[in-house]
Amino acid sequence: MNENLRIAVVGATGVVGSEVLSALFDRDFPAERLTVLASERSEGEELEYGEESLGVEKATPESFRGIGLALFATPADVSRTLAQAAQAAGAWVVDVSSAFRADGNVPLVLPGFNSEVLGASFKGRIVSVPSAVTSALATLLEPLRQSFGVAQVQVTALMGASSAGQRGLRELEQQTAALLSGREPESHAFPQRVGFNLVPQVGPFLANSPWTEEEAGWTLEAARLFAPKGEIPVVAGTAVQVPSFYGHGLSLHVRLRKPASVDQARAALKGSPAVKVLDSPGEKIYPMTSLVTADPTVHVGRLRSFPQAPEWLTLFAAVDNAGRGAALNLVEAGLRLTERPA
Ligand SMILES: NC(=O)c1ccc[n+]([C@@H]2O[C@H](COP(=O)([O-])OP(=O)(O)OC[C@H]3O[C@@H](n4cnc5c(N)ncnc54)[C@H](OP(=O)(O)O)[C@@H]3O)[C@@H](O)[C@H]2O)c1
Repeated sequence: MNENLRIAVVGATGVVGSEVLSALFDRDFPAERLTVLASERSEGEELEYGEESLGVEKATPESFRGIGLALFATPADVSRTLAQAAQAAGAWVVDVSSAFRADGNVPLVLPGFNSEVLGASFKGRIVSVPSAVTSALATLLEPLRQSFGVAQVQVTALMGASSAGQRGLRELEQQTAALLSGREPESHAFPQRVGFNLVPQVGPFLANSPWTEEEAGWTLEAARLFAPKGEIPVVAGTAVQVPSFYGHGLSLHVRLRKPASVDQARAALKGSPAVKVLDSPGEKIYPMTSLVTADPTVHVGRLRSFPQAPEWLTLFAAVDNAGRGAALNLVEAGLRLTERPA
C-alpha cells in the first residue's frame, strides 16, 4: 500500500463509510493521510479511528485538492456531482452507489472477480462497484460457471435494514420499540412498515416497470460483469426488506449449463477463496446473517438438487452487505488503482 497517498472517504459517517474506515484501519492506513467527508449535517463531528479521532469536513468540489484516492459511499445523486469534481482534481475515484453502475464509460469492478480491469486502460478516473446483492451473486456464481456454466438464476434477496443506511437502522429500531409498546409506527425510510413485517419492495420502482431499481440492477450488473467471461446468466428475482439490521440472505435457484451433483457443486464452491461453504444441515450448520458480520467471504449452504431436473441447483447464501458487499469492494478496488501509473 502507498502510505504517502491521501485518501478521502466521502460519506464517512454512513453505514458503508464507517466500514470503509474500519477496513483502512485494519490495513494500518495512517490517520494523518485520511480525510473524512460527509454532508454539512455532520460537519465538525469526530469519528473514531483506532485511538485517534478524525474531524468530519463538509464535502465540496474543492475538498479533493491533493487527494490521490476518493472512496465514495454517498447517495447516488451526491456521487454524480462530487465524483466528477474528485476526478477533475486528479483523484482516482471508486463509487459504491448506483450512480455509475449502468454507465458503459465507467468500469464496473468486483475485486477478486474482474480485478484485472483495474490494471487495464479505461476512460476517466472513476470506477464503480456493484450492489451488495450482485457482489454476492457474482462471487458464488463464478466457481459454478467455471465448472458447469450458468444459464439462469432466480433469487429472493432478504435484505436487512442497513441496506437503507443509518436512516433504515434508526427506523427499524423505532418501529420495533413502538410496536412492542402497542403503538403503530410511522414509515419514512421504508415504503411500508418493516418492523415485524416483510416488504417486497426495496428502494423505488423503475418508471413504468414492475421491477424495482434494486432488482433491475442485479440483471444489468450481472450482465456487465459476466459478459467478458463469455457467459451472461439471466438473473432475475425479488428484493424483500426484512426486519433484521445487518446482513442479506439470498435464496437461489441456479440453472447450470450441464447437470452437476450436489457434491460436485459443493466441491466447486469450496475451491473459491471468496466463498465459505457451511453445509451440514443435520448439525444445524448453514449460512445465517448473524454469522457474516465482518466476514470477508460469502457464506453458502443448504445445497440441494432434484433428480428430475439435475441442471437446477437450490442453495442459500448470506453476505455482510455493508462490509463484504460494499466497503471492502471500495477499499480493495481503490488501493489497487493507486498502484497504477498516474
Ligand atoms: N448500506 C448498504 O448495505 C449498501 C451496500 C451497497 C451499496 N450501498 C450504497 O452506498 C451508499 C451509502 O449507503 P449507506 O448505507 O452508507 O448510507 P448512509 O448510512 O445513509 O450514509 C450516507 C453517507 O452519505 C453522506 N451524505 C449524504 N448527503 C451528502 C452530501 N450532500 N454531501 C456529502 N455527503 C453526503 C452522509 O453524511 P451525513 O451523515 O452527514 O448525512 C453519510 O455519510 C449509497 O449509495 C448506497 O446505495 C449501500
